[in-house]
Amino acid sequence: MSIADLADWLRCPHCGASLTDAAQLTLRCATGHAFDVNKRGYVNLVAANDRMTGDDAAMLDARDTFLGAGHFEPIRDALAAAVPAAAERIVDAGCGTGYYLAGVLASAGGGTKALAFDLSPEAVRRTVRATGASGLVADTWRPLPLRDGCADALLTVFAPRNLPEFHRILDADGRLIVVVPSGTHLHELRADGRALAVPADKAERLQEEAAPLFDLIGVERVAYTMGLDGSAIEQLLGMGPAAHHREVGVAGRDERVTASVDIVRLRRRVA
Ligand SMILES: C[S@@+](CC[C@H](N)C(=O)[O-])C[C@H]1O[C@@H](n2cnc3c(N)ncnc32)[C@H](O)[C@@H]1O
Ligand SMILES: [Zn+2]
Repeated sequence: MSIADLADWLRCPHCGASLTDAAQLTLRCATGHAFDVNKRGYVNLVAANDRMTGDDAAMLDARDTFLGAGHFEPIRDALAAAVPAAAERIVDAGCGTGYYLAGVLASAGGGTKALAFDLSPEAVRRTVRATGASGLVADTWRPLPLRDGCADALLTVFAPRNLPEFHRILDADGRLIVVVPSGTHLHELRADGRALAVPADKAERLQEEAAPLFDLIGVERVAYTMGLDGSAIEQLLGMGPAAHHREVGVAGRDERVTASVDIVRLRRRVA
């Protein structure tokens, strides 16, 4: 990944003009706004007044360890299969540790370019290191500093969505691929309050919300049972939203836990 590759995805968060590589780890727009690129190869374009925060290092560590053990590999494989082979420019919104993007890129053509963004600078740093993608620290809830039509496919896995912005940054015929938990995902851990409840109809709600901007191509359910020991359950709880809510001292015994997600494939509709 070069700074010029990174700049190719980006527009100025102040004026919307394209950003270009101005050498010496700086991106600049024609109006003169300038941004430092981290020497590890990513840029932080979050507004100074943005108070949102992404996942912290402890959550990312838990996620890294849990995902590295392969418990969600069937989800990653199904996601990789859902990305069209023709997609040459892929954006991962809310990339986390980069686990899913790494899997997608491993099964994509060699010339595929990727931009990973997350609100957590530490997540972006890890993803850039793990995948070689261009990296951006940005807030999904704000207008994104990404150029119109810069992506052929946009992935978002267990992460926030901004459908009008996703529509804008996808090119004609671009694909939005969303992974959401189904109503039975981790239900054994939700039943006794160790994990937060999820609405049963997340995929349906997404389709309704997306309908003005995207056509549904299909929904694929990926469901299986995981055998998890006490430390894997600790990691699973530690990497999700429950990390902010749970009591310390969860069960230490082995358990069978359901993984069940929907992979929703949508096609950008021309406005
Ligand atoms: C549940 S994690 C999923 C991470 C990754 N996609 C995965 O499945 O391993 C949600 C991710 O979204 C990021 N995030 C939360 N709020 C965000 C926002 N407003 N804009 C961008 N990223 C955000 C978090 O930092 C975190 O990395
Ligand atoms: Zn500018």
